[in-house]
Amino acid sequence: MIDIELLKRQFFERHGRVPRIFRAPGRVNLIGEHTDYNDGYVLPAAIDKATYIATSPRTDRIVAAQSLSFEGVVTVDLDNADARPRSDWGKYVQGVALVLEARGYRSSGADLLIASDIPLGAGLSSSAALEVSVGLALAAIAGRTIDRLELAKIGQTAEHKYGGVMSGIMDQFVSVHGQAGRALFLDCRSLEWSAIQLPTELSVVICNTKTKHDLAEGEYNKRRAECENAAAFLGKPSLRDVGADDLEYMGSRMPDVLKKRARHVVTENARVLSAVSALKSGDLRKLGELISASHQSLRDDFEVSCPELDTMVAIARRQPGVFGARMMGGGFGGCTINLMLPQEKKEFFSNVSREYNDETSIEPEVYYVTIGNGAEEVDASRQ
Ligand code: GLA
Repeated sequence: MIDIELLKRQFFERHGRVPRIFRAPGRVNLIGEHTDYNDGYVLPAAIDKATYIATSPRTDRIVAAQSLSFEGVVTVDLDNADARPRSDWGKYVQGVALVLEARGYRSSGADLLIASDIPLGAGLSSSAALEVSVGLALAAIAGRTIDRLELAKIGQTAEHKYGGVMSGIMDQFVSVHGQAGRALFLDCRSLEWSAIQLPTELSVVICNTKTKHDLAEGEYNKRRAECENAAAFLGKPSLRDVGADDLEYMGSRMPDVLKKRARHVVTENARVLSAVSALKSGDLRKLGELISASHQSLRDDFEVSCPELDTMVAIARRQPGVFGARMMGGGFGGCTINLMLPQEKKEFFSNVSREYNDETSIEPEVYYVTIGNGAEEVDASRQ
């Protein structure tokens, strides 16, 4: 939990001004992995872990950002639209600042102080939360209210152009639209969405494998290209338009890799729709089965899992009270999501920590997350 009053004081000590504070949350995704950039369905939820930005205006068209998690100052010259993308965390600040400018949100510049309690690079969308919080803060400094969907799209563009990952819209979308206690059922083609209440007898628990394999970014872009090739092979605009029958019919002529990628996306979209029905009817056993099937598909067909994720999922599934477990996010390390009965959480924590450590010699982290609201300005006096 970030202490807002402390962040305000730290900002005041550095800049001699009282800042405004903005926050944007990280996310979990119940189901619908690697479907967003295929125009498919996803079911994410915003979490109580978030990135906070303290900010006040400058007059020299410079955005100067400091983070409590990293050394140094990131400076972005708003008049240098062609600056090369930075290679450190500052690329997200730079990206959002320059994309906002290009979209007409002209600002005089700003000082930013960033604090976050989202574990970095763990698959909880720390980069989307940074993009969205910076976007919200800089738009406010520019004296503008920004449409939430536009804010999400600006974050995604920054991710593509400056982050180097051709991500879908899911992470930024849920960071801006999240609702406490609810998951968002989003159609990534039409961007129509609805919020679905999560039952109180369902706890969302995240297990961090504490591994991140280097191939993550390169493989992500490669998967996206493979999906586009698979859709083209089938003569469809995207894999969203492919049905199980199409795969059956054309599949024998398709290169094996493309067929596997397509099969994951087609079956995952169907699983999201079933998961929404299961949630609405309170069938948590069914929801768990779908989540476990999602892991298998991500591991075998989409090939984005890794031994640590598989081990963590296998351990979680044999614990009492667990409905389902799977890898979450882009893959190749990071976190798993586990849906379980709240009363079993304590035992889950000790068993998983011990068994994962025994099998991998890595000390995992386990987080109980609360499903929270999307990005907003924080009124510190009400904290
Ligand atoms: C990352 C991307 C998302 C999505 C997931 C996989 O989190 O940022 O857009 O593609 O991977 O579902």
